[in-house]
Amino acid sequence: MIEEKIHYFESPGRQNTDEAVKLSIERALKKGLRYVVFASSTGYTAKKVLEYGEGKGLKFVCVTYHTGFYEEGKNSMDEETERFLIERGVRIVRQSHILSGVERSISRKLGGVSRVEAIAEALRALFGHGLKVCVEIAIMAADSGAIPIEEVVAIGGRARGADTAVIIRPAHMNSFFNMEIKEIICMPRNKRRK
Ligand SMILES: Cc1cc2nc3c(=O)[nH]c(=O)nc-3n(C[C@H](O)[C@H](O)[C@H](O)COP(=O)(O)O)c2cc1C
Repeated sequence: MIEEKIHYFESPGRQNTDEAVKLSIERALKKGLRYVVFASSTGYTAKKVLEYGEGKGLKFVCVTYHTGFYEEGKNSMDEETERFLIERGVRIVRQSHILSGVERSISRKLGGVSRVEAIAEALRALFGHGLKVCVEIAIMAADSGAIPIEEVVAIGGRARGADTAVIIRPAHMNSFFNMEIKEIICMPRNKRRK
């Protein structure tokens, strides 16, 4: 048996970013993990990860929104920020979102909901948006070849910043049910915004 702490934030959101990132780096080092994978749309969380984790021997993978998420052909992260991150050794992953995909277009156009979107919604409702994001970005990073299939720390949040972190053994999208969440490092105790 092992004992590890889970830290609970009162509510979801960006205000938890510093603490969530600090705890993630600490846990990765304690467990001897090699990779920290995190969601960052604009680079805000990515810069926090560097602030707390640079120079400690960890490898950083930043999963960002797919091109066109907000506006056709446009990226959510500006070029200068992306260059800054790459120069510091951060691997950027930008690809189709695994837990929505083309299904999102079909649901928007024709209504209904796909099985993939049902998985996403169940994760959001039960564990919060941040944990759904941890699951999604772990697959995206694995499918991009940015991380191997080994235990990594994954960090996600509610729209902006970070509020959830887990140790996860990722899987590729064609073997989703092989994925395992090993430890929850932190999460919001209340999943919905007040
Ligand atoms: C692939 C991907 C999927 C995401 N899905 C969600 C989501 O379902 N719900 C949510 O609240 N935030 C979602 N996010 C936002 C992230 O959890 C995180 O808060 C954000 O990317 C941090 O960006 P920042 O560093 O620019 O603040 C997603 C981000 C990415 C990259």
